[in-house]
Amino acid sequence: MLLIDRRPTGAGRAALRAFRGLPASARGHAAVRWWSAPLPRVAQALPATGRVLEIGCGHGLFSAFAALSGARSVVGVDIDADKIALAQRVAANLPAADLTFRVAESGAVPTGPWDAIVVVDVLYLLPAAAQRSLLADAVAQLAPDGVLLVKEMSPTPRWKARWNRWQETMAVSVLGITERATARDDTASGEPFTFVDPSTMAGWLGDAGLWTAQQRLDRRRLHPHHLLLARASDPAIP
Ligand SMILES: C[S@@+](CC[C@H](N)C(=O)[O-])C[C@H]1O[C@@H](n2cnc3c(N)ncnc32)[C@H](O)[C@@H]1O
Repeated sequence: MLLIDRRPTGAGRAALRAFRGLPASARGHAAVRWWSAPLPRVAQALPATGRVLEIGCGHGLFSAFAALSGARSVVGVDIDADKIALAQRVAANLPAADLTFRVAESGAVPTGPWDAIVVVDVLYLLPAAAQRSLLADAVAQLAPDGVLLVKEMSPTPRWKARWNRWQETMAVSVLGITERATARDDTASGEPFTFVDPSTMAGWLGDAGLWTAQQRLDRRRLHPHHLLLARASDPAIP
């Protein structure tokens, strides 16, 4: 039952199929991402149409899914030129989708206005101050009723947070699968990540004058997935 619920259908299957011809490592990564992250739940919170920016899009799975599951024009950016080159091949396999990918400098938010900006499992790779500044820059590029979506990990329950931290240590520090913008020396623990509590991020966005809403996305999942929405008017989660 658990696995059947996550089996890709429709747009999910098409997005995964668009990885055909890419190296097995990228195809495997996309498949693992699909099964381990609640990407459809995040996409559900996007407006069905309009201009969407994904910051830290990696190989482009979520962007591709977002473009295919609505009438959206999606731009994905990432600091990792190798991943963007692969994402561009994914877009080339989906000629009917309005989907583009490009390399961006760390912390740079392409000029809007964007109807939605989405950041999925990226902020923890930055120091807390850089996370706050990236979110503020993103807010500045939103359309008047645009929505900011942040999918990160909750610090609770602690066993899930510990499992996630171990896995990220493997991906970032041991296997080098995930790129970080700069060498990190700003955490007291010496760890390469900064998992800011999503409630703290909601406080930052509230201070910037936005309404926020939060939702746990980790039911029957090993990782403590968590979604934060922010916009200038009340952002009820669909
Ligand atoms: C864990 S991966 C998540 C990729 C994708 N969002 C997903 O959900 O599958 C984190 C991504 O963030 C990118 N990244 C790290 N720091 C970044 C920054 N400052 N600006 C943009 N992307 C960044 C990495 O290159 C990597 O592709």
